[in-house]
Amino acid sequence: MAQSPESSSLESFRDPILGDAWGELGAVRRTARRDGKWLADVRLGYPVAGLEAEYARAVSEWLGAEVELTLAFEAPRAKGMDGVKNLITVASGKGGVGKSTTAVNLALALDRIGARVGILDADIHGPSQGIMLGVAEGRRPEVRDERTFVPIKAHGIEAMSMSMLVTERTPMAWRGPMASGALQQLLKQTAWGGLDYLIVDMPPGTGDIQLTLSQSAPVAGAVIVTTPQDIALADARKGIEMFAKVNVPILGVVENMSYFDCDGCGKRHHIFAAGGGGRVAEEYGAELLGAFPLAPAIREQTDAGRPTVVSDPDGEIAALYRDTARRMAALAWRTLQRAAPAPTIRME
Ligand SMILES: Nc1ncnc2c1ncn2[C@@H]1O[C@H](COP(=O)(O)OP(=O)(O)OP(=O)(O)O)[C@@H](O)[C@H]1O
Ligand SMILES: [Mg+2]
Ligand SMILES: [Zn+2]
Repeated sequence: MAQSPESSSLESFRDPILGDAWGELGAVRRTARRDGKWLADVRLGYPVAGLEAEYARAVSEWLGAEVELTLAFEAPRAKGMDGVKNLITVASGKGGVGKSTTAVNLALALDRIGARVGILDADIHGPSQGIMLGVAEGRRPEVRDERTFVPIKAHGIEAMSMSMLVTERTPMAWRGPMASGALQQLLKQTAWGGLDYLIVDMPPGTGDIQLTLSQSAPVAGAVIVTTPQDIALADARKGIEMFAKVNVPILGVVENMSYFDCDGCGKRHHIFAAGGGGRVAEEYGAELLGAFPLAPAIREQTDAGRPTVVSDPDGEIAALYRDTARRMAALAWRTLQRAAPAPTIRME
């Protein structure tokens, strides 16, 4: 039997990404009837560009009546940082698994689906975001009032990295405390321009820098990047447990270099064993946010300063980054709403 589209029934519609009722999420703003049609205004805490038609269909089907749906996005505001609503770190215990590649593509994907985004390269020793975003060597951020840096704009997002403050020949052999100090400066002295999300690309490991960040900034959540091999998974677990200790919620796990679509035989090869990222996520009650192929194009595009989301926006991989970014943002929203620290961590 068809329900009438009153707000009460729209409130019980389950969000397609989160599975929670829109009512519980406080998403339904207004419903009205005009010219034989139902109108509904819904505000979600994750970027909604590109979803309207799909959600309108789902809602109309749920209510058994035609609904004209207007979707709006308003990022939730985590406490504590000027110019940034949500700070999300992209991390892993292990080096070289694709944190920076994932971070920059997720940041660009969030921008493309309608959010205001910045990226902070917290890798003081081996920064990579300048190159990945195609920022010319030697380009420096403007300094405002002799004390704050104005981030550099690249492909629509704001970016700040140690590589934009030192020259190629400046050694970056910072000792621990100096590196932490440099990161704190980057955090505190950058004038972010009203961001919905600041994505922080973390260096490998579970040391000083990671602790500095979680202690000196309000981290809304962490995304753990891993490859499917056992050795990477072990480090991913260490990363998750480190964040748990400092009460940073884990938003989910991204499995990178998950498979290879072979142009030789046409099959999908799981080069580093299958499903490890999903298993680690499950162990900690977290979600697998996405699994990305080992694809030469990802490396080539990122090395050339035009990450996949920018170079091949209509391709499958870019779509996967957008879906993953949206899911990550949705989980950040829900985490904040539930306002319990680290709700998804189960220590074993
Ligand atoms: N899915 C992928 N397919 C192919 N190449 C990839 C993929 N992800 C990352 N790479 C490449 O792997 C290398 C390491 O990636 P990246 O620098 O993002 O890793 P990282 O975890 O940030 O490393 P570090 O620990 O040094 O900071 C880079 O050359 C990158 O282009
Ligand atoms: Mg990196
Ligand atoms: Zn093959």
